[in-house]
Amino acid sequence: MILVLDFGSQYNQLITRRIREFGVYSELHSHKLTAEEIKEMNPKGIILSGGPHSVYDENSFRCDEKIFDLDIPVLGICYGMQLMALHFDGKVEKAKNREYGKALIDLNNQPILFKDTPDKQTVWMSHGDKVTAEPPAFQVDATSPSTPIAAMSNPSEKLYGVQFHPEVRHSEYGNDVLRHFVFDVCESKGEWSIKNFIEQEVKNIQDKVGDKKVLCALSGGVDSSVVAALIHKAIGDQLTCIFVDHGLLRKNEADDVMKVFADDFHMNIIKVDAKDRFLSKLKGVDDPEKKRKIIGNEFIYVFDDEADKLKDMDYLAQGTLYTDVIESGTETAQTIKSHHNVGGLPEDMQFELIEPLNTLFKDEVRELGTQLGIPDHIVWRQPFPGPGLAIRVLGEVTDDKLEIVRESDAILREEIAAAGLDRDIWQYFTVLPNIKSVGVMGDARTYDYTIGIRAVTSIDGMTSDWARIPWDVLEKISTRIVNEVDHINRVVYDVTSKPPATIEWE
Ligand code: XMP
Repeated sequence: MILVLDFGSQYNQLITRRIREFGVYSELHSHKLTAEEIKEMNPKGIILSGGPHSVYDENSFRCDEKIFDLDIPVLGICYGMQLMALHFDGKVEKAKNREYGKALIDLNNQPILFKDTPDKQTVWMSHGDKVTAEPPAFQVDATSPSTPIAAMSNPSEKLYGVQFHPEVRHSEYGNDVLRHFVFDVCESKGEWSIKNFIEQEVKNIQDKVGDKKVLCALSGGVDSSVVAALIHKAIGDQLTCIFVDHGLLRKNEADDVMKVFADDFHMNIIKVDAKDRFLSKLKGVDDPEKKRKIIGNEFIYVFDDEADKLKDMDYLAQGTLYTDVIESGTETAQTIKSHHNVGGLPEDMQFELIEPLNTLFKDEVRELGTQLGIPDHIVWRQPFPGPGLAIRVLGEVTDDKLEIVRESDAILREEIAAAGLDRDIWQYFTVLPNIKSVGVMGDARTYDYTIGIRAVTSIDGMTSDWARIPWDVLEKISTRIVNEVDHINRVVYDVTSKPPATIEWE
């Protein structure tokens, strides 16, 4: 395992990602870990990440300096290299200007981290302070015009520092730098893979659960589906899933979840048809946040009622991902979650938690799902909000309006898939605003609803751009919706990015 200590750089998760891509397991942890705790974890190498501070700031993040005495190889990146330089009596100075962007470095004598890479190479810099004198016993491995010590090392002690960010793709040979550290310096083996993960985790789950029973809230989303499939592989019928159909799902979604997991995987699933319960609670409510709250609470009540009936459950399985752990765990991450998922369960439930995905990133979870035999349409499902279609029917939710959104959404999805665009677009759906307008169909005047199409590209849902869907695809979607969905006489396309708009209309 390669341990990455987090000093708050926006790139810190990338370091862990890159190393896992080499087939070497890596974890990101708070810089506050003590040397003792690190020793317990027995990593083959430690990477000190970059960070937004100056080492001279009053509250700058520091690590336990005893980590340098553990006899474990250390690579300091940017801020991490400056900490290392200070610790070993080098000199770090505040630069007049921040250096940000690409820079050209020159290597000295093919240092091990740069083995088989060109003497001159482009790297990505993002720093204020810089090391101006290398510590005694260190050598300078690379220089750039504005950063004379762009890389340094003390090979006999296995200590290395780079001022640039090797984890960022703009650093031409950055991956090689990380690879040489991981394999040549730390002597990692590269045996980590999702296949091994499955074997190991199945055993962990079996050891932990023994002959006890596990409950899982299955929503049909990627994370809960993969958790259920993994636990099922480990303990079979000792797992029971509760699938709450709140009547706000997309066309055929509930049947599909049951087909895949109950029929094909042979899981124990209790499907709760709670549509009437949810719709009656939503009657007369048009405020989006009130709708969210009602749905969130009702979900918990329904789940609670069902769980109560199953008296002998010991564990609750959850699809917590590594990003959730990092965001709440290392204290330095800056991402702010915009939505509390309505699938969230009450904190006072009397179960012990089991969270087998909490060391995996989203794309690793997708790969795991595929290897467990979950079909592509679930593994690659677009994000779907917990409150479902209720926030795509603007204003009060009624059965008729849900039907309009459900049918138009199904047409949109069919056509996007037929055009081969489903993996390129982050999210695509229809919304029903409370607008009626005049149209003409045949010889008759109509006065009917408008459907909005929303399709966006995004990396993480925090910001997004509207998708440039080819016009002929849009034309086909529009024609089909107007012809096939009752009460629609107009289709509009939303061409707003986020910000200023949000992805959903409510
Ligand atoms: P917005 O609309 O805020 O959405 O740009 C960003 C992402 O979050 C999803 N979303 C939700 N997910 N509960 C959820 O679980 C919600 O209440 C909720 N509201 C929005 C949205 O679909 C997009 O992926």
